[in-house]
Amino acid sequence: MHYDSIKNEHGLKHDPFKALVAPRPIGWVSTVDKNDVLNLAPYSFFNAVSERPHYVMFVSANRKDSLRNIEDNGEFTCSISTMDTRDGMNISSAQVDSLSDEFALSNLETAESIFVKPPRVRRAPASLECRLWKIVELPDVSGDRGHFIVIGQVIGIFIDDSVIKDGIVDTASMQPLARMGYMDYAVVTPETTFSLQRPQVKEDGTVTVPKGDWDGIYR
Ligand SMILES: Cc1cc2nc3c(=O)[nH]c(=O)nc-3n(C[C@H](O)[C@H](O)[C@H](O)COP(=O)(O)O)c2cc1C
Repeated sequence: MHYDSIKNEHGLKHDPFKALVAPRPIGWVSTVDKNDVLNLAPYSFFNAVSERPHYVMFVSANRKDSLRNIEDNGEFTCSISTMDTRDGMNISSAQVDSLSDEFALSNLETAESIFVKPPRVRRAPASLECRLWKIVELPDVSGDRGHFIVIGQVIGIFIDDSVIKDGIVDTASMQPLARMGYMDYAVVTPETTFSLQRPQVKEDGTVTVPKGDWDGIYR
């Protein structure tokens, strides 16, 4: 099939877009409102968009509590959701009213952040502490739903020491979750992780790919 995606004429049971751009990392976003009520929700229109400076972004479809809180005080954290915390992550997505604390609802303990007020998820092996840079509203085709890109600079990073091995973060050991389409998720494990070394261009223009284990040098 090949279709006009502005008209969205796919003819399938559901819009396949998110099943194609998959897997997407999940930013488990915590914020605090004006009255210090905690808020926690997963966002899979989420990604890291630059390093040094480190920036992340997530997208709020409509004006959700996370967006409102960030507009009010400019701070959020993104915890990494893992296989271990999948049920809590899922429950924290419940569309409860803005006075509900989704940490309590999901039975998840908080841990204090250092650089921002919103706490992180204690059981998450890593968390990014972010300061709002900009909110960008995307033009909408149907006019009934606004999408807002929240871009934040990462000003503090928590990493649980247990996932650092030989000076490197062992991502697979965290078993991070990723979102696919429909109600599907994926999980990164040691079995599904592999390395490819970067190709090297020789003086004569030929390209080779180093074999064997990575020597720890970026090329
Ligand atoms: C894995 C997962 C990913 C989600 N990603 C998004 C997203 O990218 N954008 C969005 O607006 N809602 C997303 N949602 C839905 C929100 O989590 C949900 O609407 C939540 O209630 C918003 O909470 P808030 O109003 O406290 O910010 C996602 C839900 C799940 C379970």
